[in-house]
Order: sequence, then C-alpha cells, then structure tokens
Amino acid sequence: MGYDEELRRHNEVLRRACGIQGGEHILDVGCGSGQTTREAGRAAAAGSALGVDVSAAAVERARRTARAEGLRNVSFEHADAQVHPFPRGRFDLVISRFGTMFFGDPVAAFANIRRGLRPGGRLVMIVWQAGERNEWDVALRQALAAPAGSKTDGLDPFSLAEPATVERILDTAGFADVDLTDVREPVFYGPDVAAALTWVKGFTCTNEALNRLDPAGAELAAGRLREMLAAHLSDDGVRFDSRAWLVTARRRA
Ligand SMILES: C[S@@+](CC[C@H](N)C(=O)[O-])C[C@H]1O[C@@H](n2cnc3c(N)ncnc32)[C@H](O)[C@@H]1O
Repeated sequence: MGYDEELRRHNEVLRRACGIQGGEHILDVGCGSGQTTREAGRAAAAGSALGVDVSAAAVERARRTARAEGLRNVSFEHADAQVHPFPRGRFDLVISRFGTMFFGDPVAAFANIRRGLRPGGRLVMIVWQAGERNEWDVALRQALAAPAGSKTDGLDPFSLAEPATVERILDTAGFADVDLTDVREPVFYGPDVAAALTWVKGFTCTNEALNRLDPAGAELAAGRLREMLAAHLSDDGVRFDSRAWLVTARRRA
C-alpha cells in the first residue's frame, strides 16, 4: 500500500481539474514519491514538471521511479517550498495533492510559490476538510482513543480545512479567483484487513498514539483498530468516506 493507492479517486479529481496542456511547465508542491509529477510530465510532453519535497527519501524514490519510466521532462528537488528560490514566473501551473497543509507560515509559503508562477498562472491543489468531516480520521481517533483535532508531530493535516482561512491566505499571498469545490471520494486502505492495518499503523498519528500507551494498552488499541478496519471491509477492500477541498486560484497580474 501507498498514497497512490489510497488516493486514487482524489488523484482523478485533481488530474481532471488541472487540465494540463502539452507545452506547460508545472510545479508539484510536496510531491512525495512523485506520481502526480510524473503524470503532469506525461500530460505536458512538450513542457516539463518539477516536483519538490522536504523529504530527501521521498525525492530519491521519486527520481528513481521517473528515471525507470524514462521520463526526461520530469525532475525533482529536495526543497522547502516555503522558502525555495523558484525561478520567477517560470511555471504555468502549480499542483499539489495534499502537500500544502504543513507550512509554518502559509502566507509566506504561498507568496513564495506565487513568485514561481507566471502572471495568470494557475494553482490547483487538494486539501483535507475538517477532521470531524472525515470518516477515516473520526474512526482512527475513536479506535486509538485520541482526542479530536490533536496535531501529530506538530503538523496539522487539517490546517486548510476552513474555506475562509484558505481564501484569506491565498488573497494575502497574491492569488485571485479563489474557488473551493467539495470533493467526496473514499480513501482506500488496502485489499484486506491485514494490509489496511499495516498501512494505518504507518501513519504518524497512529504511531504516536500507540507509542504513548503501555504495551497492554497498545495491544488493546491495535485490536480496536483491527475491528474498526474489518467493519469497513467490502468487496473492493477497506474504504472510508472522506471530504476534501479542490482549491483553484490564479496568480494576480
Ligand atoms: C501527505 S504527503 C503527500 C505527498 C504527495 N503529494 C502524494 O500525494 O503522494 C505531504 C507531503 O508534503 C511534503 N511537505 C511538507 N511540507 C513541505 C514543504 N514545506 N515543502 C515541500 N514539501 C513539503 C511532505 O514531505 C510530504 O511528502
């Protein structure tokens, strides 16, 4: 299991919204292992796609896969998108699949990203709505007895959940025509309960919650996780409802 399988339905929504043209130059923020960057590169065969991520390991994986697939117009940089000096006005389109919720200073980060866009260039990103609207987050927290809204590792995957906050941040950072569309697609955690359990145990929030418990408590929590995942198993694997925002905007001229 990996994010690409978990987010397959969200990926389709993002891909359709991007509407990439053949000669465009695309920046993928928080690209992880680079599936969205590779797809952008394929769609922009006469253009290019650059993926950036703060995780060196993710960038290495992304480079290996793109190389193995022979993609010559796709590249990756190990960089913090909040401060990285992107070439000014280089990109026609900035995309992100759940990679823009973790900035320490979101206004500074989006203003920095905006400088890399040409005037009128597009931003298309997908971010989570609030945790309580996401069945997967509610179910995980119940099973782990973790309080709602608690951050993991100081990072908040729901930091862009409020439309007014997104609009304020993007407006202050120099974007116009900000629009949010409600996306209701399930996340996929695995073909069976064992695979789903391994996948969710790898989440930072699960890890942190289990590590806070003594061995007996952790064993009980793992049992509750297994039961909760089994309750969501259907013919096509373990799935949970989710709510996200598809956010689009343009660089103000
Ligand atoms: C939830 S993952 C999504 C990864 C990828 N977009 C995908 O859909 O598979 C979030 C990613 O954002 C990256 N990230 C977080 N803060 C970042 C920053 N300031 N600059 C660049 N990448 C960042 C993380 O390292 C992580 O790979």
